[in-house]
Amino acid sequence: MQIIEEIKACRKSIRDRQAKGLRVGLVPTMGALHEGHLSLIRAARANSDRVIVTIFVNPTQFSPEEDLAAYPKPLEADLAACLAEGVDIVFTPTADTMYPEGTQTSVHVTALTDGLCGKDRPGHFDGVTTVVAKLFQIIPADAAYFGEKDYQQLIVVKRMVNDLNFPIEVIGCPIVRETDGLALSSRNIYLSRSQRHQATSISRALFSAQRNVEKGETSVVKIIGEIRTTIEETGPCAIDYIEAVHPETLKPLEEIHGLARICVAVKIGKTRLIDNLAVDATTASR
Ligand code: PAF
Repeated sequence: MQIIEEIKACRKSIRDRQAKGLRVGLVPTMGALHEGHLSLIRAARANSDRVIVTIFVNPTQFSPEEDLAAYPKPLEADLAACLAEGVDIVFTPTADTMYPEGTQTSVHVTALTDGLCGKDRPGHFDGVTTVVAKLFQIIPADAAYFGEKDYQQLIVVKRMVNDLNFPIEVIGCPIVRETDGLALSSRNIYLSRSQRHQATSISRALFSAQRNVEKGETSVVKIIGEIRTTIEETGPCAIDYIEAVHPETLKPLEEIHGLARICVAVKIGKTRLIDNLAVDATTASR
């Protein structure tokens, strides 16, 4: 497994492989790899001849109130996990390499970033799209793998790739959950035992909403109300949002008659957790 820090060396390494006709899959990460990331690596391996993982805690997607310094950076463990998964290249640039002095350009996707996490985290998606655009330039891979856990991020990145004609396929992969339903996240390590237990209410509420939609419930007010009650009755928390949105435009829905995505962001203690679930009213047994 090659570990590369420099941009030129990374680009050359990818181009050399592609010159041999090899298909390259890219998994961009901020490290602190868990089973969710490993599932992306496995999907990339299944679809590609060579897999590159990037590990870069991107400062531009953190707001001043969010603790960039405290973000976990277990590089040794991450490299070991990549090696065990048969990753071919790990790109671990420094912040100075990615954002040298004088950098002035950023990428902004408009409407899709207004709602959901965009409301609570101003500037966050500009940081994401800018770094992902840079990674796509540095690593001219054939496909890139993103988790559906960050559903808005996935849709925003797809839009950017489409709008800016990046020659790369963006592949969304399903959320990986603990056996009790909690969506895997690098932030779960911040939860105390009781908060961890409380956090399971999020997926429980989402799956219950999915069943209700399948049984014919169309009212988003009712669906959201029930999710809120299920989450709030487990203990103190601050709900940032619970919304049912169109799966592609991310516009909020008032009624669910077709496909929709129910998205939730909740702070339990200081930890902000997000989760989402696809619902399909066309399967409703009315
Ligand atoms: O999902 C993440 O880990 C990050 O937002 C990404 C896509 C690696 C960009 O920094």
